[in-house]
Order: sequence, then structure tokens, then C-alpha cells
Amino acid sequence: RKRVLSGMQPSGLLHLGNWLGALENWKVLQADYDCFFFVADWHALSTNYENTSRLREFSRELIIDWLAAGIDPARATVFVQSRVPDHAILHLLFSMIIPISWLERNPTYKEKQEEIKERDLATYGFLGYPVLQAADILIYKPDFVPVGKDQLPHLELTRELARRFNSLYRPVFPEPMEHLTKFPKVAGTDGRKMSKSYGNTINLSDPEPVVRQKLKTMVTDPARVRRTDPGNPDVCPVYDFHKIFSPLPVIEQIDRECRTAAIGCIDCKKLVADAIVGRMQPMWDARAELMNKPGQVEEIVAEGSQRAATVAHRTLTEVQEAMNI
Ligand code: TRP
Repeated sequence: RKRVLSGMQPSGLLHLGNWLGALENWKVLQADYDCFFFVADWHALSTNYENTSRLREFSRELIIDWLAAGIDPARATVFVQSRVPDHAILHLLFSMIIPISWLERNPTYKEKQEEIKERDLATYGFLGYPVLQAADILIYKPDFVPVGKDQLPHLELTRELARRFNSLYRPVFPEPMEHLTKFPKVAGTDGRKMSKSYGNTINLSDPEPVVRQKLKTMVTDPARVRRTDPGNPDVCPVYDFHKIFSPLPVIEQIDRECRTAAIGCIDCKKLVADAIVGRMQPMWDARAELMNKPGQVEEIVAEGSQRAATVAHRTLTEVQEAMNI
């Protein structure tokens, strides 16, 4: 079977955007591929090294979000990066052969540094972020790496590094392909892109009343002020949710009745809330079940990390042989 690898940083609770953008895709992939999904806790240190007090908690919450969303540890290997120390050894070996210029010209290096002003990011670990990511990836020799567009420069660099290693020593690494997620970005409750930094998210762990409340106060077509004003669903973020979560007849009904003011925003939001709640219910049930079995999450992570470590170690042995280490 072809192999898939992907990771996420543990930086807080997942929201609907992460769910539709990444997890739904992972769920499809786990049915057909040999999947490895991991929590990139070392990567989280590259931008958040000052306060690490919640790091372990975030890693655990991330895994719970995955499991609740339907990532199945019987099909996919779910693990935590720091529990597979061979990633770090491969990172060290890669650091010997990667030219610094490749890292300095990496677009996300400069962008992130400008974006995050409150911390000094002129660190060794931050510059080397993509080297660690290349090690994460190549150590599993995956065929595909499901990621968002923002990760494409890192993937390109991973392939360049694989080529460099292969030509310096011997061909150990196949070049992995990206597997882009097709899902469009969803808007948050304020109409901007759903993002933790905007505080406009609907989280996978939000209980039903919170989800309903957030939808109630969500922005709609700003031109529709009064109930009697006709609305324009094309510019309404609530309608975007309908398109994702509601059955086709409801979508068509909303489109029609919004334009003629036959339906108001309150009723329209009630319908969308029902649809979203219906989709989230299995996730809440799965989450409650996990909470009832303390120790289960730890068991899944321990087992997954063990399985990952076996595969990783096989590659590392090959690498060290190729380098005469
Ligand atoms: N850089 C990725 C992100 O921020 C996380 C990540 C780390 C990753 N290592 C990876 C993703 C390996 C895919 C493969 O989202």
C-alpha cells in the first residue's frame, strides 16, 4: 500500500476550518493508504519556546480532536514526534548537508519573522524548521504528504534535500508528492477567514449550546439590515456554511428565500445550526466516550509511537549505512 504522512503543530484546539481543511481529507486517506499522522511538538517549540507550560496538554488535546473526528488508530498510525527520537538524529544528519542559503531563501522564514514580533525568532531552531520537517517526512518514505498550500515551499525543500542526499551517498529517499486539500477556506463568526488568531472559530470541542450561540451572533450579509430587506447569499458567510452542511433542497430554499426576504437571518441560522450540530454530534459522542476511558488516549499514542519508531529506525539505519556512520 502507498504511504501517507502528515503532521500538525499542537497550538490549541482545532476548529471547523481545520476539520474541513485537513481532517476530513485524512479520514478519506486512511481508508486506502498506510497513514502516519503525528503531533509536531518539537516544531511548536520553534515559535513558542518561552512558555511551554501547556505544550503537553495541547498535544493530548490535538490527538483527542483527531480521534473524535474519526481518525482511526486501527487504520492509521497516530503518534507524537518527540516520542520518535530518530527524527532528531536524521535532522542532525541533514543539518550537515543542507546549505544555509536554502533555509534563508525559504519564504515562510521571512514572513513568519515579520508576523511574530513578540519573540526573538533569530534562533537556530527556527531557521532549521524545514530541516526538521524534511526529516519528519523522509524518515517514513511516504508517497504523499497531505498539506495546505502554505506548506508547499517546505515540501519542495524536502525533495531538494532528498535529491542532495541521494546524489551525495546513495539513493535512499524517494521524493514525496504533496496531496493538496481541495477544501476552500471557511469563514469564521466575524466573516473573516476562520482562524484562532482572530478569535472567530467554532471549535470541534465546543459543546452544542456554544456552537448554537456562536452561530446566532455570526455576521451575515452586511447590507441586509432589516428583516424585510432582501439579502444576498453570495456574500453571506452563513450561506457558505449552508453550502457545506445543509442538504441540497435546503440550500436552494435558502438561496431563494433570502433574496426575496421570505426567510430572515434568525430562521436561516437556526437551520444551519441544526445541520452543523447534526454533523458534529458523532464527534461529541466519540469525545465523551474517550473521556470515559482514561488511559485510552495514552495507550493509542504509545502504541502508535512504537509502530512509527520501528519504521523510522529502519530508514535511519539505511541512512547511517549510506553515510558510513
Ligand atoms: N509545518 C507543518 C505545519 O505547520 C507541520 C509539520 C511538521 C508537518 N512536520 C510535518 C506537516 C511533516 C507535514 C509533514 O502545519
